[in-house]
Amino acid sequence: MDAPSYDFVVLGSGIAGLTFALEAAAHANVLVLCKADLQETNTAYAQGGIAAVLSSVDSFEQHVQDTLIAGAGLCNETAVRFMVARAPESINWLQQQRVLFDCAADKSIALGLEGGHSQKRIVHVKDHTGLSIQQALGKAALQHPNITVAPKHLGIDLLIQTTGPRKVCYGVQVLDIKAGTYKTILAKAVVLATGGAGQVYGHTTNPTIATGDGLAMAARAGAAIQNMEFFQFHPTALYDPAAEDTFLISEALRGAGAELVLPTGEAFMQRYHALGSLAPRDIVARAVFEQMQFCQSPCLYLDARQLPTGVIQQKFPSIYNRCKSIGIDPTIQLIPIVPAAHYQCGGVHTDLHGQTSVTGLYAIGEVACTGVHGANRLASNSLLEGVVFGKEAAAHATAKKSKLRITSFKSIVYEVPDTRNDAAVIKLKAELQAIMWEQAGIVRTTAGLQEAMYKLVELNYNLKHLHGFSVTVQEAKNLLMVAELTLEACLKRKGSIGGHFMKVTQNKKQVLAV
Ligand code: FAD
Ligand code: SIN
Repeated sequence: MDAPSYDFVVLGSGIAGLTFALEAAAHANVLVLCKADLQETNTAYAQGGIAAVLSSVDSFEQHVQDTLIAGAGLCNETAVRFMVARAPESINWLQQQRVLFDCAADKSIALGLEGGHSQKRIVHVKDHTGLSIQQALGKAALQHPNITVAPKHLGIDLLIQTTGPRKVCYGVQVLDIKAGTYKTILAKAVVLATGGAGQVYGHTTNPTIATGDGLAMAARAGAAIQNMEFFQFHPTALYDPAAEDTFLISEALRGAGAELVLPTGEAFMQRYHALGSLAPRDIVARAVFEQMQFCQSPCLYLDARQLPTGVIQQKFPSIYNRCKSIGIDPTIQLIPIVPAAHYQCGGVHTDLHGQTSVTGLYAIGEVACTGVHGANRLASNSLLEGVVFGKEAAAHATAKKSKLRITSFKSIVYEVPDTRNDAAVIKLKAELQAIMWEQAGIVRTTAGLQEAMYKLVELNYNLKHLHGFSVTVQEAKNLLMVAELTLEACLKRKGSIGGHFMKVTQNKKQVLAV
């Protein structure tokens, strides 16, 4: 057996993958693979913060109830309680990894507010919480003697041994992108921490790495997948048609007092929910979408002008600077905003230890569906989920390690990497993103979802007939798989709930949320 082997191989270097690696490395050797640079993750873009009960006026029960309400009754309550109870120790753990959270004047951790939270409980580092976490965990992982980090390595497929109904994962097939060579990596357990799939939609806050690779790999391996109809749309991405990326305007800005307004400057969110601009995210995103249509406006606005002098510059420097870079001064002008695809609430089904339905395969972070988000995630619960379940999966896998064996492998033959068809694949991906945005976006119809399914058959056919293997081809294949699972789940779900909204009445003004 000449393939390299590790106790654990982790795919993904975001908050979930690095938490697992740092925890497991005390007892095991760990390989962390990531397809881009170590720091290029969804985690690095997170702005608002991490939810945790840290104040005496707050309670675990309130955090639990807020999460269950946002999740529209479809959360796994046991998983929610498990996560909420471990939030304070997770913040403590991040501090031990040298994440320097903002503090109040009395040196206690400063707490912000976001949509759907009944108390201030958002722990943050200005408006770049994710980047600070990413840098701290990345540095710790690079310094750890038991952790090997391999950037620019694309996980292609899981190695699975099937005996009757039992499937065991014993490694992963990888492309070393720089060298252009394939590797087989064996492990006692494989951990998917590959993040989300925002790139399946035309407008997304997610970076280009978010192509649902881990989810597609798990699905191809036969792992159980759930809740794919619940893709979360964020109501406030910066409207900037000239930009190549989609920059988020954090919900924390609304928590600090900014209000959503119509092009006329009129506030409107109270018509939809008693919490106004701070209602749960699915409700706000639909309201913005609906009002854009009523007003026939390409965007709505966020009014942050009433915030006390200096607050935007000091507490939200990234947002302030980005707005200024396109000629908008948010202290005196309205910020143009639009909704954008943001977070995959569904994913690879796991138990409380991150175990999937395939033995030896764990899933943690955004790729996983632990059940904590139900039909709509509560703001700032996903970084938390990454730490809590990253730690828990590491403890579980470590405890089981002595019972796990490295299995011998069957080599898979891939075509030599070939990027000749990449331009055509990028066009195909754009077609997929457009159809998903139109037909499986914020408001859906049965006819639209069916039309998208037909289009998907055509796109799959076209992709199969573009020869050659490349990162672009593999990502497109994975996105098509994510789209198919999403459309199937949407068509199966009866009625509207949480992030899944079906328009039933044509030609009639609808009240989208109460
Ligand atoms: P990621 O951080 O996305 O990491 C994924 C990793 O997997 C990367 O290293 C990538 O290279 C690797 N990978 C993917 N595919 C492969 C492959 N085939 N082979 C090898 N490696 C692969 N959540 C909050 O709780 N609070 C917030 O304030 C917040 N703000 C956000 C703001 C923005 C703009 C965005 C986009 C998200 C935000 N979120 C927030 C959501 C949160 O950031 C993510 O859910 C979370 O960071 C996901 O972490 P992760 O570790 O699961 O995956
Ligand atoms: C934000 O800062 O608005 C994003 C928070 C989140 O996605 O949890």
